[in-house]
Amino acid sequence: MRIGELPTPAAVVDLDVLQRNLSRMAQRAAALGVALRPHFKTHKCVEVARLQSACGVRGFTVSTLAEARALLAAGFGDLVWAVPLSPGRLDEACLLARKAEHFAFLVDSPEASDSLDARGRRAAERHEVLLEVDCGYHRSGVDPGAGESVALAERLAAARGLSFRGLLTHAGHAYACRDRRGAEAVAAEEREVTVGFAQRLREEGVAVEQVSVGSTPTVLAADHLRGVTEVRPGNYVFFDAFQAAIGSCTLADCAFTVLATVTSANGKEGRFALDAGALALSKDPGPVHVDPRCGFGVLLPGEGGAPLHDLVLAALSQEHGHGRTRPGREKPPQVGDRIRVIPNHSCLAAAAFETFYAVQAGEVVELWHPARGW
Ligand SMILES: Cc1ncc(COP(=O)(O)O)c(C=O)c1O
Repeated sequence: MRIGELPTPAAVVDLDVLQRNLSRMAQRAAALGVALRPHFKTHKCVEVARLQSACGVRGFTVSTLAEARALLAAGFGDLVWAVPLSPGRLDEACLLARKAEHFAFLVDSPEASDSLDARGRRAAERHEVLLEVDCGYHRSGVDPGAGESVALAERLAAARGLSFRGLLTHAGHAYACRDRRGAEAVAAEEREVTVGFAQRLREEGVAVEQVSVGSTPTVLAADHLRGVTEVRPGNYVFFDAFQAAIGSCTLADCAFTVLATVTSANGKEGRFALDAGALALSKDPGPVHVDPRCGFGVLLPGEGGAPLHDLVLAALSQEHGHGRTRPGREKPPQVGDRIRVIPNHSCLAAAAFETFYAVQAGEVVELWHPARGW
């Protein structure tokens, strides 16, 4: 089947671009001297995990137990569940952990630490655990400057139901940067804060084996990663319009697009509608701090090619994309035309689809089914 024959909206992955992104990141991690533990949440596909594994990846990061289940069933047994432990999922997570070679939990509170420890002691097991550090994103994680954070690390290290492995942080605030130089400064902060806290813990007698950092912008921009043991970028497999706007990649590096059809067009008013709305693209507003008029993605011709900068996806409703012409373009595309959208946030857009069409030279070569849900 050719791209032109796909029912829309459709999630399309360009296999050659994907493969190039995977190889480049593997080389980047090797050059930085750190292990690569990619985040699975961007694609959630075991087929992509196998391609990553062929590039030398041994362990994965997950954010849902559905992702962990899929990876374990495919034979990938070294996982970090990189969201703060949710008590209601503890029994289920412990069952999965038993099937894994390594399964690390993430905690940032004495409550979570104690419930995991109690569960481990009851079952005469030791659960691997990482302490989340807040390196400036202020989403979750302990304050590395607070004495109680050292006390929590000591509590984790002393707990008989736990095996304390080290520290994990995520510099999500790198997305507020405007360019690669800004991301380089956040990458330095992410490294310094986490490596510095690891050092402080070691001075207090706490063994810290793993120092895990990483977002796509910071891994790509980091000057060096001395003291870090692994990086966890996720988005780099697909990239997206946001990453291109902040200088992590070019539009030609974007491997994931949503193929849509023009379903309505008003030439006089310069507007058109696509059959891909918020449920296909997500309502991520995109890099408005770089370009306030960026719209909900970058549009390309249906068969691929140069970006259509004279068109903008100005708004989204549930099933409609609201397209507009920009000055310089007289008429909008016609009903029946096909358009591809590089979404603002590929992780969110990809999570909207049950099937991904992997394409090579315009031909669909494989169908992939992501592990959706929780
Ligand atoms: C804990 C954690 N690690 C790694 C990542 C991957 O970062 P990115 O999406 O920038 O590749 C994320 C993304 O949100 C995350 O939350």
